[in-house]
Amino acid sequence: MKKHTIKDILSDYKRFLHHNITVQGWVRAFRSNRFIALNDGSTILNLQIVVDFEQFDEELIKNIKTASSLKIEGEVIESQGAGQSIEILAKKITVLGDNFSEELEKTVLQPKKHSLEVLREQAHLRFRTNLFGAVFRLRSAISFAIHQFFNQNQFFYINTPIITGADAEGAGEMFSVTNFDLNNLPKDENGEIDYTQDFFGRKTNLTVSGQLEGETAAMGLGRIYTFGPTFRAENSNTTRHLAEFWMIEPEVAFNNLEDNIDLAEDFLKFVINYVLDNCKDDLEFLDKRFAEEQKQKPERERAKEGLIEKLQNVVSKRFKRVSYTEAIEILLASKENKKGKFQFPIEAWGADLQSEHERYLVEKHFECPVVLFDYPKEIKAFYMKLNEDGKTVGAMDVLFPGIGEIIGGSEREARYDVLIQKMKEMNVDEKELWWYLDTRKFGSVPHAGFGLGLERLVLFITGMTNIRDVIPFPRTPKNAEF
Ligand code: 4AD
Ligand code: MG
Repeated sequence: MKKHTIKDILSDYKRFLHHNITVQGWVRAFRSNRFIALNDGSTILNLQIVVDFEQFDEELIKNIKTASSLKIEGEVIESQGAGQSIEILAKKITVLGDNFSEELEKTVLQPKKHSLEVLREQAHLRFRTNLFGAVFRLRSAISFAIHQFFNQNQFFYINTPIITGADAEGAGEMFSVTNFDLNNLPKDENGEIDYTQDFFGRKTNLTVSGQLEGETAAMGLGRIYTFGPTFRAENSNTTRHLAEFWMIEPEVAFNNLEDNIDLAEDFLKFVINYVLDNCKDDLEFLDKRFAEEQKQKPERERAKEGLIEKLQNVVSKRFKRVSYTEAIEILLASKENKKGKFQFPIEAWGADLQSEHERYLVEKHFECPVVLFDYPKEIKAFYMKLNEDGKTVGAMDVLFPGIGEIIGGSEREARYDVLIQKMKEMNVDEKELWWYLDTRKFGSVPHAGFGLGLERLVLFITGMTNIRDVIPFPRTPKNAEF
């Protein structure tokens, strides 16, 4: 027998009308011993079950509590009440799992008493709420849309290693991977840890990016993308940083910086359009929640647009493309900078942009997504293409309202000798990266790519404000429960 989800039944209800069907789910509410709101996770919508309690055993009716799980057999009928088109007239009810503790209701399900922080400590239970159901269904849809976009555009999905010896970003923010007994580390004659005795015979770490390996794949396959977990041991306890997050990294042979920016813009718009078209119920729920949240804020802090409206605006307007140099001029001339409102005032060209600056540009100055390009070479990674001015590199960052940087990427330095020179200047070990340098030896081509942080995109689309609430089990400094 084919099992029907509540989503199947509600989205195609005419087909089910007057049929006997079986549904299974959790009780969201049980009103007047007569109406069960049943949810099975397939949609945010509940299916109404009508129970003629006189027809059922009293004990059974007592066990129908919020969160208990049920199997219902009954007839699909037209609904008498407002709010739904159909309901199920229950003929047989089986309690699959009794909810015998009040704990779940107290900690998770009672909407007014909990805050998102409390729910974070109950991450294993929060899937059962409407809010997290919507967030994680959207996260899944977004991931699917990402694969679909690349598949449609003839990209190949490549899996790059999670354990690696390379530090792609050169920032040194890595978690070590070892099977040494940490209380008894082998030392060499200089008293240093002897990694030749470690599992891999060398020092290894969790990857911070699959880019370098991705580039080697693009040199044979043309268009590739990676989609996997990445790890950063940066101690930034912010609402936008995770120690473990998912990154999508396309890499394209024969693309230059402009092609790369076009790809990033098309890609983001495709994914947002996909959820607008396919995730209406969840987005409408989040849109209402977002509006409620705005009402709690002082007037001047309120968002100018609703959540869905914001998504529609992003897909309909062209992203503003601005060079780093222009951005610095705008920031230097801004009231905020002159009046010392920035925590990190901009003093001159060459300054690294902080998230407050990025958000000023996006939210106050341009009021739309912004792509910044051609950054000073000193503040960007070694692999980026050196521009003719000798001062800047072909980097690009996509900045989104409310988020700041959502994508970081660049055209790559394809010239062997220039790359070696940059590695020397930036103290990147040539010997370690011998295999990466090979990409520039045998038929090197211009190429470009970028990385999208999945959770930052999910934050933007769902209107959630803390990145810990858009990944099922967040990993942050001092926190790795579950
Ligand atoms: O700008 P990043 O560091 O770029 C790279 O890693 C390049 N190798 C990408 C490439 O060109 N293939 O990181 C890319 C994106 C950021 O824009 C941000 O969205 C996300 O990854 N990101 C994080 N997301 C959550 N928590 C963190 N700690 C993040 N660090 C970066
Ligand atoms: Mg970056």
